Amino acid sequence: MNRNLIVKNAAQLVTCKGFTAKKGEAMSDLGIIENGGVLILDGKITAVGPSHEVTKGINEKEITVIDAAGKAVIPGFVDSHTHFVFGGYRPDEFAWRLRGDSYMDIMNRGGGIANSVGATRKASLDELLVVGTRRLDSMLSFGVTTVEGKSGYGLDRKTELKQLEAMARLNKSHALDIAPTFLGAHAVPTEFKGKTDEFVDHVMEILPEVKEKGLAEFCDIFCEENVFSVDQSRRLLVRAKELGLGVKIHADEIVQLGGTELAAELGAVSADHLLQASEQGIRDLAASGTVATLLPGTAFSLKEDYAQGRSMIDHGCAVALATDFNPGSCFSNSIPLIYALACLYMKLSPEEALTALTINGAAAVGRADTIGSIDVGKQGDLVILEYPSYRFIPYHVGVNTVETVIKTGKIVFS
Ligand code: NIG
Ligand code: FE
Repeated sequence: MNRNLIVKNAAQLVTCKGFTAKKGEAMSDLGIIENGGVLILDGKITAVGPSHEVTKGINEKEITVIDAAGKAVIPGFVDSHTHFVFGGYRPDEFAWRLRGDSYMDIMNRGGGIANSVGATRKASLDELLVVGTRRLDSMLSFGVTTVEGKSGYGLDRKTELKQLEAMARLNKSHALDIAPTFLGAHAVPTEFKGKTDEFVDHVMEILPEVKEKGLAEFCDIFCEENVFSVDQSRRLLVRAKELGLGVKIHADEIVQLGGTELAAELGAVSADHLLQASEQGIRDLAASGTVATLLPGTAFSLKEDYAQGRSMIDHGCAVALATDFNPGSCFSNSIPLIYALACLYMKLSPEEALTALTINGAAAVGRADTIGSIDVGKQGDLVILEYPSYRFIPYHVGVNTVETVIKTGKIVFS
């Protein structure tokens, strides 16, 4: 397969070059090259710079050439928090929330996550592959080249492994790269009602198999009032770390419980949601280097207050943005919507939001060394916009401005 390609004459080449997880002020520095070029050989970036330098000595008959005159070129987006493998849908719950039911009310009366668990347990592996492929196709069209995906709609050994197996197969069959996360502790299933500690034990029994089979890179938990406590979360995640998995936490989403502080304490790769994170929690994240992954599409869909994105950056946190794509709290994988919400309601600049969706998203899945920026040695994952600046992404609210997607040197969407 030909994975040699050159992009030339880019009006704006946005490299995000030279950083791993950018913190604080550094998030605004995008390393822009005007009239830029990128050379990709065997799927890897081998030259980045002014177009005339990158094209020097290249025989254009022997390589795929893209003339990006009048267009911006940016790194492929990394959607670092999604739940994209699930059976069934929950449109009625959206309507119930509009009439005043809260997300947790619906969950506590047996809807919400439990609803998707029922449908996912019933779905065959093949059915999950069909819907999974369709959803990945849509993500790719928005310029996402790497996605994190969580299990968590099984809550039993068989279905959790089925979801993870679906992601392993999709990772092979689809152009997108998938970073899989085991979220066996997403909710307490009805068969363990009132026995949360026993359920945490059960999830801990599944963990070694997940690790041995190489089915997940991370372990996550929904640390929330009436779901899993801070102590239960610590117990599971300490074990996950012992087994060599990275850890993540759905932290302080609905109630301020202390999941943010726990994430910092454990050196989690990311703490996610953080709508109710405390001042101390934010300071702890900044000090620990745990990525603060913000999901404004969820706050928008649930009509909750947004996370304190501005304050987190000002405190020196490495902030990432992701969609949280799932069938309940945010049934959207629209990157331009997330981008606009982050700018409009969390006070991120367009520069900070781009960093948060690329290199910091890469850091949130432990891949900042290989993806997330346009830099020599990194994977050739690029997005070409139909406009001359990345600033069109939030400005053209919710509308896709992606023209071409290149994954490891190959055009996979145009
Ligand atoms: O990240 N909060 C917990 N988990 C998901 C929602 C899952 C669902 O509603 O199906 C979230 O928002
Ligand atoms: Fe989530």
